[in-house]
Amino acid sequence: MREDEKTISRSSFLGSLGTLGLLGSLPFLASACKEPKAKPTIYDGNSEDSIIDNILTRRSIRKYTDQDIPQEVLDTILKCGIFAPSAVNSQPWELRVIQNPKIIAEISKRHTDYLRIEKKEIKDPENHSINYHAPVLIIIAKAIKGTGTLPTLLDCGLLLQNIMLAAHANNLGSCPLGGIVPFLNLDNNSDLLHLFNIPSDYEIAITLALGYPDENPQAPIRYTDKVKYIR
Ligand SMILES: Cc1cc2nc3c(=O)[nH]c(=O)nc-3n(C[C@H](O)[C@H](O)[C@H](O)COP(=O)(O)O)c2cc1C
Repeated sequence: MREDEKTISRSSFLGSLGTLGLLGSLPFLASACKEPKAKPTIYDGNSEDSIIDNILTRRSIRKYTDQDIPQEVLDTILKCGIFAPSAVNSQPWELRVIQNPKIIAEISKRHTDYLRIEKKEIKDPENHSINYHAPVLIIIAKAIKGTGTLPTLLDCGLLLQNIMLAAHANNLGSCPLGGIVPFLNLDNNSDLLHLFNIPSDYEIAITLALGYPDENPQAPIRYTDKVKYIR
C-alpha cells in the first residue's frame, strides 16, 4: 500500500476533546476537504501569494521525464535546503546529491533483492526503481546525537521541505522516500554510506527523488479538522 493511501486515524484527538467537553463548541470545519487540482506554478518572487501558491500546489511526484537538471538549478535548490532553520543553528545534516545512474541503479538493485528476501510486494519487479526513475536522488543524513533535547530529525524535516518547495518553484517534482530509509541504514549497506562519505556518527534521515515531473497528480485529501482554534 502506498503511503498516501493509508487511512489516517483522527479518533484520538477528537476523543480527547470530547472528554474535555469541547467537541461541538469549537469553530472548525468537521469534514475533510479536497484540495483543487494542482496547477504548475513558478515562484518568481513578485506575487505576494507566490509562497502560498507554491506550498499548496507542491505534490509528491512519482513519474519523471529523463530531462537533466541544470547544475545552477540544483545549486539554488540545495542552497534553499541549507538555509532551513535548525536548533541552535546546529545544521545537523549531511547532503549527498546522487546524479550517477550507476549508483542509483545499484541502490535500486540492492533494494529489490532486499524486498524479495523480506517477501515484500514489488509492484513492477522488472521496472523497479528506488526513486521512481528520477534522475537525481538526494540523500539527507542526520547526526545521530543532537545538540540538545530537540531531535535532529526535526531539523532535517525543515531542510527537506525547503528543498521540495524550492524544487517546485523551479518546475521540478520531488518525492520523499521514507520507505527505503531503514534499508539504507542496514549494516549491509554501510559500504554505500562510506562511498557517500557520510560520517560514522550520522545515519540516513530521509531520501528524496528529484526530477522534472511527468504527471500532475491531484492533492491527496487533507483533514481540516486537524486544526482547532482554542479561544
Ligand atoms: C517523511 C516522508 C516519507 C515519505 N515516504 C514516501 C515513500 O516512501 N514513498 C512514497 O511514494 N511517498 C512517500 N512520501 C510522500 C507522501 O506519501 C506524500 O507527501 C503524501 O501522500 C501527501 O501528498 P503530497 O506530497 O502530494 O501533498 C513521504 C512523505 C514524507 C513527508
